[in-house]
Amino acid sequence: GKNMLWGGRFTGGLDPLMVAYNESIYYDRAFYAQDIAGSIAWARANKSRGILTSDEFSAIEKGFAQVREEWATNTFEIKPGVDEDIHTANERRLGEIIGTGIAGKLHTGRSRNEQIATDMRLWLREELRKIEGYLMNLLKVVAARAEQEIEHVMPGYTHLQRAQPIRWSHWMLSYGLAFATDLQRLREVVKRVNRSPLGCGALAGNPFDIDRDAMAKELGFDELIYNSMAGVADRDFVVETMQWGSTLMLHMSRWAEDLIIYSSAEFGFVKLADAYSTGSSLMPQKKNPDSLELLRGKSGRAFGHMAGLMMTIKGIPSTYNKDLQESVEPLLDHVKTVGDSIQIATGVLSTLAIQPDKMLAALTPDMLATDLADYLVRKGVPFRETHHISGQVVALAEKEKTPMDQLTFEQLQSVDKRFEKDIEKTFDYQKSVEMRSAKGGTSKSSVEEQVKVLKKMLE
Ligand code: ARG
Repeated sequence: GKNMLWGGRFTGGLDPLMVAYNESIYYDRAFYAQDIAGSIAWARANKSRGILTSDEFSAIEKGFAQVREEWATNTFEIKPGVDEDIHTANERRLGEIIGTGIAGKLHTGRSRNEQIATDMRLWLREELRKIEGYLMNLLKVVAARAEQEIEHVMPGYTHLQRAQPIRWSHWMLSYGLAFATDLQRLREVVKRVNRSPLGCGALAGNPFDIDRDAMAKELGFDELIYNSMAGVADRDFVVETMQWGSTLMLHMSRWAEDLIIYSSAEFGFVKLADAYSTGSSLMPQKKNPDSLELLRGKSGRAFGHMAGLMMTIKGIPSTYNKDLQESVEPLLDHVKTVGDSIQIATGVLSTLAIQPDKMLAALTPDMLATDLADYLVRKGVPFRETHHISGQVVALAEKEKTPMDQLTFEQLQSVDKRFEKDIEKTFDYQKSVEMRSAKGGTSKSSVEEQVKVLKKMLE
């Protein structure tokens, strides 16, 4: 068939597979509302320049209201093979409603190159604002739980080996503050997304002195993109969004991995709510942390879209090339994945039950070996020496098959004479965490301060 939008110099028809290969309507229809808003701003700006009369502008605005309604109520009929993308579809339908005599003037001086860039930015801006809300909800749950459950102490790990006692809230906030940093990054990204390419033309700019500032203002953009070639070539805002989302999903994936481990019977620190678990079709006893596994799994997909788009873009020459259309699907999927993931994580965290007795039971006296060394440091012994002495106590406990805190005072003194009676106070997990009271540590006051910092970032 002959394309009404660009078919003027074409005589032959397209290979049917080429039609399908080229069309983007089945996914860029996601931008229908943005495309219409952009077109109305465009028409208004053209009215101010005398390209359209007031009546023509009104007809266009009214016609588009109907087109928008059709999309919103799912009654818009996509014409297969004709409606190549959202821009052609909207203009085709507008022509049917108000007549092609007027609708045909709308595209004066305009290119789909600036249209798609405008649509994507408008759409993404709104999605990122929604995501900001989801992320803030997650962080509110982190802050609330961290306050409520501050008493509970559990093992902290390095190399997945028991390392030192920490507060459960300290673990929650370790991710909470990473997500809060993601929130700060997101607010930066939105600023760069929210710049207007409208008026850039196909690449060289607009020949009718269109008022780009007025259009940007109408559409709620913060700023213009000041080079028309850059405006149509740029998918940095998509790349940056996906880099942002990938960083967030990286945190999410590690968070999920921790909780998968903690929810295993061997650890048992947490129990996932039924709402976020599934059973096994074969093994009746199973309750699997599928939500967490999907969070971990979907991070791979989010990174993949980012890397894929960077590869797509890196070799293409100046300004618009059809390769850029390949930025749309990854963006749609990435944004959905990230938005859903944050909401699922929020659900998981707000319904999770902790098992403080299991946390306590997993603490072992050897996790206080550093505290033992620090005890002697406070008596003036150099740390390198105390580290060695404490290591000897650990070895003695192993040899005697006695937990370190059960060694007699005499046994401790046999390792080093500088141990005094008050050494027994060191074998106390609560005391151990309370010793870490410098800013950022796991003592109660430090954890409370972290909650404050987190809450401040939510303002
Ligand atoms: N559907 C296209 C896209 O997503 C719109 C731009 C088409 N421009 C062009 N010169 N073929 O990139």
